[in-house]
Amino acid sequence: MADIKNIVTLGVGLMGEGIAQVALMAGYNVTLVDIKDELVNKAYAGIEAGVKKSEEKGKLGEGVTAADVIARCKKSTDLASAVKDADMVIEAIVEKMGPKKEVCKIAMDNGPSHIIFASNTSFMSITEIGKDCGAPDRVCGMHFFNPVALMACIEVIKGEGTSDDTFNTAMDVAKNLPVLRGKRYIAPVLKDKPGFIVNRLNAPGNIYISWVLDKAAEKGIPWDQIDADVGKLAAMPPCVLMDYVGIDTLVHIMNYSAELLSPDFKPGKVLIEMVEKGTLGRKTGQGFYDWSKGRPQPDMSVKAGLFDVNVLFAISLNEGCRLLEEGVASGFKIIDDANMAGMNTPGPFGAGKRNFAEWSELLEKLVAETGKEYLKPCELMKSGGFVKMRK
Ligand code: NAI
Repeated sequence: MADIKNIVTLGVGLMGEGIAQVALMAGYNVTLVDIKDELVNKAYAGIEAGVKKSEEKGKLGEGVTAADVIARCKKSTDLASAVKDADMVIEAIVEKMGPKKEVCKIAMDNGPSHIIFASNTSFMSITEIGKDCGAPDRVCGMHFFNPVALMACIEVIKGEGTSDDTFNTAMDVAKNLPVLRGKRYIAPVLKDKPGFIVNRLNAPGNIYISWVLDKAAEKGIPWDQIDADVGKLAAMPPCVLMDYVGIDTLVHIMNYSAELLSPDFKPGKVLIEMVEKGTLGRKTGQGFYDWSKGRPQPDMSVKAGLFDVNVLFAISLNEGCRLLEEGVASGFKIIDDANMAGMNTPGPFGAGKRNFAEWSELLEKLVAETGKEYLKPCELMKSGGFVKMRK
């Protein structure tokens, strides 16, 4: 297996900065690369502050100072020269296929013959990113969660061309990266399918939520009654959460899922209109709620009786079963654990073992009512066959 000492983190925005920080804290030599000096400098300053904070909290390990850690960090705006002595590139540039393929080829053309290219894409095909770079065997996925230093999960993804050696090396590097809360959790993703494990598990819930919103609008039901349906079952009720994430981000994810998974993911009327009007949630001060005075406190006293949390669990169990059927994850415990480590919420299989029959019926009814065929329960869910499968 390749011995990794020098890592290039390419694209040091929100994710790349976090990845570089944990790689430095793990003891790697890291070169930050972005398109402009000011972006690289901003990331460097952020990392310096983050590492110093870790030093103050005594999280750098015996005898290690922030200065020691920062001394291993270099900066560059020229990928071709930055990869000359790199063993690995971890890419976190824009979520677009063209630029990702381009930087992958530059890394392979200019790096040493053992260099590994790992992409932090959230949804896109690792196989496609590596297809034309001349060394698809040395391309894999390393999908981190935001914020990198605090969220335990990293999914390591095997593309169709990825060699076992590359995959195992990336698994090892991922295991070495510290996390400031709890323990790192590495999820091996054995088939390259859109959204991998965690994002895929959670994506189809948006089909249901968008449908509920359109129904509520049709009936003139206020948003806080939808949130009241969920009540204290969620840390953030759905309309507050969508506002928090950003309606434009949600619509982007849904359009993207529609392209890669099924047209059933297309966002509904309410969400599209919100984007057109620019009421994008927290970031614009107005979404479902007014955010101008901070986080809204919806009136939870009246329920709409429209949003059924069990449907959301059922959708997630169904998607988890599909992941098992497709061989993306080797067992259901990995799916549950990855969801907990990536989203801080339990995966669907724990409760699903008891409820699969009832939840399958819920989904059959939902498909009949919405026409969203994607939500049809798969064989593995309906039969409960996953209970007897390898954990
Ligand atoms: P960002 O917009 O904060 O950062 C992207 C950085 O890449 C920017 O600094 C930009 O200047 C740089 N960049 C763009 N093209 C470049 C190129 N050709 N060469 C070098 N640098 C380039 O984006 P963010 O949120 O950090 O996302 C980056 C990647 O990570 C995307 O693929 C995204 O899907 C993925 N991701 C994002 C998560 C999130 O919560 N934001 C979570 C997990 C994955």
